[in-house]
Amino acid sequence: MGELDDLAVHGETAVGWCAATPPNEFVDEHGRPAADGATVLGEPDPRAPARRVWDDAEVSAMRDTLRRNNGLQGVEVLEPHEADRAARIFFRDGFVVVRDLLDPDRLARFREASARILKQILEIPGEGGRKYVTESGRLPHRYSYGTASASRQLLHDPVWASMIDLPTTTPILERIFGGDDYNVIGAGGDLCLPGAIEYQALHADFQPDWTLTAARIAAAVRLGVRPRTQPGTGEMDHQTRQLIFERTPPHVTVNFLMSDLTWENGPIRQIPGTQTRAQKPPTLADEPDWMRFSTLVGAPAGAGVFRDNRAWHGATPNLSREIRAMPNVEYGAPWVDTDRFAGTLPHAIWQTLPPRAQRLARAITTPPGVWPAGAGVMHPLRSKRLQAKADIA
Ligand SMILES: [Fe+2]
Repeated sequence: MGELDDLAVHGETAVGWCAATPPNEFVDEHGRPAADGATVLGEPDPRAPARRVWDDAEVSAMRDTLRRNNGLQGVEVLEPHEADRAARIFFRDGFVVVRDLLDPDRLARFREASARILKQILEIPGEGGRKYVTESGRLPHRYSYGTASASRQLLHDPVWASMIDLPTTTPILERIFGGDDYNVIGAGGDLCLPGAIEYQALHADFQPDWTLTAARIAAAVRLGVRPRTQPGTGEMDHQTRQLIFERTPPHVTVNFLMSDLTWENGPIRQIPGTQTRAQKPPTLADEPDWMRFSTLVGAPAGAGVFRDNRAWHGATPNLSREIRAMPNVEYGAPWVDTDRFAGTLPHAIWQTLPPRAQRLARAITTPPGVWPAGAGVMHPLRSKRLQAKADIA
């Protein structure tokens, strides 16, 4: 029986820990290892253990360090009915954890779907003794459900599409966006296999948007911001401008947890209060320990993390024997142009959704009869995805 039979994204697994995959090995669009020192595709972790082996001495030492230190102190895990408090914490920290976003049935369906898609990725044999193909531009043993899909999204999968509008998530999103006229812009998520020994560098997901359009200001006013002007100039004062940026995240992602986040299985790290920083996050070489340990340990399976995509965050080592999968749904503020996200939800699936989900997804649904180019093809290598997209289009 192979390790991919009965693959599950929670509980112990034989998947991962490929000793033949060197630490920090990035591959290009064709799967060729990037030359030593070439960092154009991503940032290597200078402090990663030298071997991807579960009981390697450096890995064991890192495990001891994480056991003692990993996890943000006193992270608040809210109940779904605490929508107002969730929004307050979200605006304060740039993220908020809420338990039981998925009921047992939805959690089971999302786990099954996450494992089904992951199996497609891992079935592709690696080269040179490697168990798997590494995703182009990503650290080994880490995959994105979104970028590994040739359509860049997974909204063509009925399970992902069914998570657009949940009784637990929608009230919180409405508090965050100040109304119900926001949009779904995508769905995917990410995962790490056991043996993902490298830290992913802290980053924000999108280029910062420091424009203050009339629509953005209006959205902030709806959320209670009272614009003030500088005496004598009529211009908005600095404090008001800052408050508007803080209250108007362009994009919000809800990451759903398929397993409990433990100190050992690659819990996501979030740096509180970084959602409107103009400066860049530190590199891995410069990152202090308090940021490396600022992870959401203790968040349970079925919970989710509402993330302001501007907040600094990154993936952490998975030294366990459990896959850490976080499928997601991504949303755009009412004032954000949705053109660049268009056309990833097939009309045939959109038709099966309830009315409110249909409205949220109106901007990204294909015309009747049109299947999104590349949807259904999963491949870690960019060149293969582009080929699949060209073949289908
Ligand atoms: Fe990210």
